[in-house]
Amino acid sequence: MSQPRPLPRLLGSLLLVTAAALSSAAAAGQATAASAERAGAVRPLGQIIPAPASVSPAGSPYTLTSATRIQTDATPEARAVGERLAEVLRPSTGYGLPVTTRPAPQSIRLRLSSAESALGEEGYRLKSAPGGVTITALRPAGLFHGVQTLRQLLPASVEADTPQRGPWQVAGGTITDSPRYGHRGAMLDVSRHFLTVDQVKRYIDHLALYKINKLHLHLSDDQGWRIAIDSWPRLTTYGGSTEVGGGPGGYYTKAQYREILRHASSHYMEVVPEIDMPGHTNAALASYAELNCDGVAPPLYTGTAVGFSSLCVPKQVTYDFVDDVIRELAALTPGRYIHIGGDEAHSTSREDYVAFMNKVQPIVAKYGKTVVGWHQLTGASPAKGALAQYWGLDGTGQAEKAQVAEAAKNGTGLILSPADRIYLDMKYNKDTELGLAWAGYVSVQRSYDWNPGTYLPGAPAAAIKGVEAPLWTETISRNEHIDHMAFPRLPGVAELGWSPAATHDWDTYKVRLAAQGPRLSALGIDYYRSPQVPWPAQ
Ligand code: ACM
Repeated sequence: MSQPRPLPRLLGSLLLVTAAALSSAAAAGQATAASAERAGAVRPLGQIIPAPASVSPAGSPYTLTSATRIQTDATPEARAVGERLAEVLRPSTGYGLPVTTRPAPQSIRLRLSSAESALGEEGYRLKSAPGGVTITALRPAGLFHGVQTLRQLLPASVEADTPQRGPWQVAGGTITDSPRYGHRGAMLDVSRHFLTVDQVKRYIDHLALYKINKLHLHLSDDQGWRIAIDSWPRLTTYGGSTEVGGGPGGYYTKAQYREILRHASSHYMEVVPEIDMPGHTNAALASYAELNCDGVAPPLYTGTAVGFSSLCVPKQVTYDFVDDVIRELAALTPGRYIHIGGDEAHSTSREDYVAFMNKVQPIVAKYGKTVVGWHQLTGASPAKGALAQYWGLDGTGQAEKAQVAEAAKNGTGLILSPADRIYLDMKYNKDTELGLAWAGYVSVQRSYDWNPGTYLPGAPAAAIKGVEAPLWTETISRNEHIDHMAFPRLPGVAELGWSPAATHDWDTYKVRLAAQGPRLSALGIDYYRSPQVPWPAQ
């Protein structure tokens, strides 16, 4: 290292002043985060994640009291959103918070209004004043998202499941908010390690707070098949009987899977189920010998290699199998999409890959669903209306990026999941015990600090449907693992998907993120205390 040269006196003192100004700005940032969480402090309107589209602070705060009622429209959807809000607020406040359709003074009101078409499918307006808080939306999803905003405007301790001290105040003013993108996703790999229904529901609860609206479930891979298919029962009884590391694995019965769907739906989240094909299929190939070109079933697999398995493209039974699986899965799926994987098919020739996708995509359409595939699908012929999920890296794969951009120009919609930005299983740094590092380390700042709108050169802006943060589970099986890897990066991905590009700014974002720390703790989320974020002392 070279020796520092003595600085001229004036320049030296200028630098000192600048450094002092910078560090006091940083301290002010910390103070903002910390003071917003002090008992009794009112969080500034708009200091939430994702940042709202428009914030107009005005007037005095609203105070929630033991007399507060939650007044909703008579529609079952508005009532149900009101009940969900009450369920969050009752344990911590200790208040009764009855949900009613009758007018009540100083209440929290949830209103659907057909006149509010400008708010769109998911937008809302929240007005807060001493006389009440009113959330207005065109659709129930907007009310639900408005309720998540209200939660974040209340003190963090409102999330606790035991009585806490108030006061419970919401800053005065108006937030008018709607999302930048319609697809704000998170993916759970329930194949490498099986995750129970309760684990998936817990993750849904946490995703919803940040306005994530798609849950992509990676239901099959080499290490395990996780969804019951009645016409091919060994997929689960045998193919689901293990996982990475040799544990017992598991699978969802259709009734259990419906329970996940119901929980997602009540959180205004669409489940996108994935059956990964033609590669990543060892669990299926091990379960049924006839699916293999040589007619010999391989053993079950509990390692972490990729790219070694393939369905047998020339055999007719392959398509009988795919048809049965897609038919049963489509019948279970209330959402629009079925994800057919298509990544890392290193044991399938290019010619076979194209032939396979040409036969499988129409099966998805036949059962009334729309195809999503990993972006390798753009190397075949994506079906009309299909979405491709980009999972490449910033600095590599330019030819592949160009291929994806070309498909986008031809009408294929894109979901962006760049692995070196928002793969939640990538380690934060060299000291992270969990996770993988094949795409590099992904710090909290790195996962937030990019623009989905300009990420893929040549892709038309209208082709970008949103972002999705995958959590692959080679190293992950427990809730603490999920918490540590998803938080605090997931809120940043949610903000990339929801907030206008004009609000994007790491220095102010990190202060808002810091203020989420006590909230995550109150929710029992054991997040990673990244030193990039000025967390308040707890
Ligand atoms: C992937 O990470 N193989 C989609």
